[in-house]
Amino acid sequence: MAPPRPPASGWPAHSIGIDIGGTSIKGGRVNTENGQLTTALTAVPTPQPATPLAVTNAIHQLLQDLDPSQTALGSRLPLGVAAPAIMQQGIARSAANISDSWIGMDVNQFMTEQLGRPVSAINDADAAGLAEVQFGAGKLSKGLVVVITLGTGIGSALVMDGTLVPNTEFGHLEIDGQDAEVTTSAVARERNAMGWPDYARHLNRYLSHLEFLLSPELIIIGGGISARSADFLPLLKLKTKVIPAKLQNAAGTIGAATHMLTPDRPDVGVRR
Ligand code: BGC
Repeated sequence: MAPPRPPASGWPAHSIGIDIGGTSIKGGRVNTENGQLTTALTAVPTPQPATPLAVTNAIHQLLQDLDPSQTALGSRLPLGVAAPAIMQQGIARSAANISDSWIGMDVNQFMTEQLGRPVSAINDADAAGLAEVQFGAGKLSKGLVVVITLGTGIGSALVMDGTLVPNTEFGHLEIDGQDAEVTTSAVARERNAMGWPDYARHLNRYLSHLEFLLSPELIIIGGGISARSADFLPLLKLKTKVIPAKLQNAAGTIGAATHMLTPDRPDVGVRR
């Protein structure tokens, strides 16, 4: 089933964002003009195993709180979903910390049908990156911005003059023979009981490689660890400016919601 067409008046200037993580699923209603949450950021635990149906049911539960206009048949309020997966035209091409049964599935179609509202899915780091560039730490920045999220894994977003190049997966660059995510994610730091100087050395090695490959104007560091940026950002030695993300754990939710209504997605909706 093709996603529903926008009504002649266009979609409203707000939508719901949902961010699927390995341990919790967060969501909120977002004013897509200014990126502000208009409800509290609400969360439920991620069901295990995190199959598409179990996750969709958990999202349905969240929507009871987030969308008062929801009826048994659904709602017109659009929903953007950020998932830890490569998302190509709504089809999941990978699955990180969720069930492998996502791979190959048309997430847009499945969730649109199950939830009775227009749904569009995007990679979680892409969503967080877009939100940071539009409304957060990278607001007003020009040129190439790289957003790196350090969490259980490493996610990446590449944004050029506000336009996303989707699904970059730079967290899986091979550095000194190892997948960067294995040695340099926030979880790798904890698992290997690394102090900040040690961790900063790993991160510096990784980011200098990215810097060499991409020559960005700005690097933004997101993920939970960005709250501790004072412990490791000053230890980095890069030519590029590196700054912490601003939107903290709401970035994925805000990015998913706003992506849903961007004008370059005429298949899904237009912003008014
Ligand atoms: C996945 C990415 C995802 C990132 C953060 C990585 O392991 O490959 O698709 O964006 O984790 O969740």
